[in-house]
Amino acid sequence: MLFILVLSYITSITAQVIFAHNNLPVFSSSKHFFEQNIDSIPLKNINYTNFGLLSNYTFSQVVASLSPDEKLLLLQRHQQGWHNVAPGNYSRKDWRCNWSLKDGDGKIEWYDAELTPLGVSNGIKLSEKISNHEDFPRSDNFYVSPLRRCLQTWNLTWGNSTDKQPIIKEYAREVYGIDTESERHNKSFIHENWPEFKFEPGFSELDPLWKSDLREKNQHVDYRAASLLTELFETDDKVVSIVTHSGIMYAILRVVKHRSINLPTGALLPIIIKKENITKSYPLNDAYLGFNEWCTI
Ligand SMILES: *[C@@H]1O[C@H](CO)[C@@H](O)[C@H](O)[C@H]1NC(C)=O
Ligand SMILES: *[C@@H]1O[C@H](CO)[C@@H](O)[C@H](O)[C@H]1NC(C)=O
Ligand SMILES: *[C@@H]1O[C@H](CO)[C@@H](O)[C@H](O)[C@H]1NC(C)=O
Ligand SMILES: *[C@@H]1O[C@H](CO)[C@@H](O)[C@H](O)[C@H]1NC(C)=O
Ligand SMILES: *[C@@H]1O[C@H](CO)[C@@H](O)[C@H](O)[C@H]1NC(C)=O
Ligand SMILES: *[C@@H]1O[C@H](CO)[C@@H](O)[C@H](O)[C@H]1NC(C)=O
Ligand SMILES: *[C@@H]1O[C@H](CO)[C@@H](O)[C@H](O)[C@H]1NC(C)=O
Ligand SMILES: *[C@@H]1O[C@H](CO)[C@@H](O)[C@H](O)[C@H]1NC(C)=O
Repeated sequence: MLFILVLSYITSITAQVIFAHNNLPVFSSSKHFFEQNIDSIPLKNINYTNFGLLSNYTFSQVVASLSPDEKLLLLQRHQQGWHNVAPGNYSRKDWRCNWSLKDGDGKIEWYDAELTPLGVSNGIKLSEKISNHEDFPRSDNFYVSPLRRCLQTWNLTWGNSTDKQPIIKEYAREVYGIDTESERHNKSFIHENWPEFKFEPGFSELDPLWKSDLREKNQHVDYRAASLLTELFETDDKVVSIVTHSGIMYAILRVVKHRSINLPTGALLPIIIKKENITKSYPLNDAYLGFNEWCTI
């Protein structure tokens, strides 16, 4: 009897932990201020000269409009990396099923890819555009993916314009698994090469997520995007910058019910996100796919 009680107690704890884990807030996004937010403006007409901001508003007005349950996120994709150009030399199948699994081709390394020279020069241009902008909002906090292309991009874009220490967050990384471009270096390596960055609490020495035979599916990426947003909403920050990747950015757009838009390397997308008062379950029953499926999609 005692045994059954203990067992059912343990089972209910486990169930609670699992439910507490993927029961996360519902998020939404503003339909004002930015052309990309306004569904009636065709995607091809969006003018990103001023990051899509409608000409009758300033960034100061956008920030002043934020309610306590809203934040302005500056979602930024890393600049061009070697993994963005290398696939161009192969058929899709050869890349997916063979080359993407290697660290590189002997000349170019795409494991945890670094930026190309074009990526670096575009990073400097973006940094100049922001420094010369009279009204660009100042971030209260900076978050960054642990992958090298994002650490480099952060440094190029923001390194000269803030004294704040960027925080490396595991969940800000790209859709992971199977390909080496999504595997990260260990913590010691990152710290040695990027001493100016801070790690979130609990950041582990070895990559805890990447596996050579399993690839994260959208369902899990969406859950991870919602978890990341939940953590960002635990502070009083108004303006938050994240340097991250296209796959997780598309997931953030899905989670906040924003339309999908094109996100080229180096894209910087301002978006007002609201945390709703309710939670929902983000399912995790179909979270990963295997190599054969990866190779054929
Ligand atoms: C885009 O917006 C800028 C000002 O932000 C303006 O100077 C430029 O003419 C616009 N481009 C087009 C194609 O409308
Ligand atoms: C700014 O322009 C948008 C789109 O033209 C319009 O919907 C909005 O009402 C304008 N806002 C103000 C404060 O004029
Ligand atoms: C693509 O192939 C050419 C010719 O072999 C080589 O010079 C170039 O470095 C390759 N580019 C990438 C990005 O791998
Ligand atoms: C697979 O990659 C290896 C290098 O690791 C290369 O020698 C081989 O030619 C590649 N096969 C195909 C079909 O591209
Ligand atoms: C980051 O940028 C600063 C200033 O632009 C530079 O001095 C430093 O070497 C960079 N750090 C890395 C790790 O690239
Ligand atoms: C940062 O400032 C240093 C020193 O003024 C300069 O050499 C470097 O190019 C700047 N970095 C960027 C990304 O603008
Ligand atoms: C961390 O990575 C570096 C570079 O790949 C390697 O030399 C080092 O042994 C690794 N350290 C640990 C603790 O795995
Ligand atoms: C949101 O929840 C808080 C309590 O958690 C409650 O005080 C508040 O009224 C709720 N707001 C709305 C708009 O439902």
